[in-house]
Amino acid sequence: LFLGSATTAFAQKKLRPADYNAVINEAYNRFKDEKEGKNADYIPFLAKVDPGMYGIVLVTKDGQVYQVGETKFEFGIESIEKVFTLCMAMELFGDQAILDKIGADQTGLPFNSVPAIEIDGKKPSNPLVNAGAMATTSLLTSHFGHEAAWEKVDDYFAGFAGRRLKIIDELYKSEAATNEHNQAIAMLLKSYGYMYDDPLFACDFYTRQCSYGVNAHDLALMAGTLANGGVNPVTKERLIQEKYVPKVLAIMGTTGLYETTGQWMYKVGLPSKSGVGGGIISVMPGRFAIAVFSPPLDKAGNSVRAQEAIKFISDKLNANVY
Ligand code: DON
Repeated sequence: LFLGSATTAFAQKKLRPADYNAVINEAYNRFKDEKEGKNADYIPFLAKVDPGMYGIVLVTKDGQVYQVGETKFEFGIESIEKVFTLCMAMELFGDQAILDKIGADQTGLPFNSVPAIEIDGKKPSNPLVNAGAMATTSLLTSHFGHEAAWEKVDDYFAGFAGRRLKIIDELYKSEAATNEHNQAIAMLLKSYGYMYDDPLFACDFYTRQCSYGVNAHDLALMAGTLANGGVNPVTKERLIQEKYVPKVLAIMGTTGLYETTGQWMYKVGLPSKSGVGGGIISVMPGRFAIAVFSPPLDKAGNSVRAQEAIKFISDKLNANVY
């Protein structure tokens, strides 16, 4: 009955900068020798990133930033981009359109599953799996037109990160040369009426979005914007209406770590999103966001160390949203 009292007392007193620093440093040291996991190997560029790199950034709702480890190295944003593409589409078309045209249900299957599309009534399932992300991207590219779309998306992502992001060209080329599986998914969705622009254009655009280079600090600000009700906690720019933020977080909480999201929410209780580049973002609404970078992944495609570090920090700061 009283087991939780120590952490609760810690979280209830006003946290000082020293507390945040102590917690992230402890998380860093505790897991830095972790040997489990393996870099993504189906995208050649990701396979050769140094697996020893590890960084943690925590940003509070009021824009205080705490960091430890490798927080400047730019790695592939990969699937984490899906969250911000979703934000943009929700801003433009509203939350009902996301439900009708994409979906909001967990597949229980890997992020690039073809059977998931068939099982879910030929729908893309949700915006955070490859099928749903490409369909969401196709809403944007058809809305803005092929010429203008990149600049619009680029501006929007820059708002979240607080600086303009660049594509890692080598990553884009490496992924574009090996993404036949995603092309097939895009074509399949087209055949079922759930692709809203030219499927191969949308697939290529999505691949480019996945190739954004971000560091852990960028990701923390991006996630921090969601922790702060849609306003970037550092630049104070509003990126998404407050009423949409819980919808985005709900989808992250349902499917952000793919088929292991249920276990993640059971153990940690923070809406999160992973990418095969080794990043994970987690949002404690109204308090703070955490971004962790460490390339070695588990079988589902989620960074091993990032999961360990975020669970540790969340427990210490009593952040479980439930
Ligand atoms: O489409 C892909 O396969 C990659 N660009 C992104 C996948 C990804 O990050 C899934 N993450 N855990």
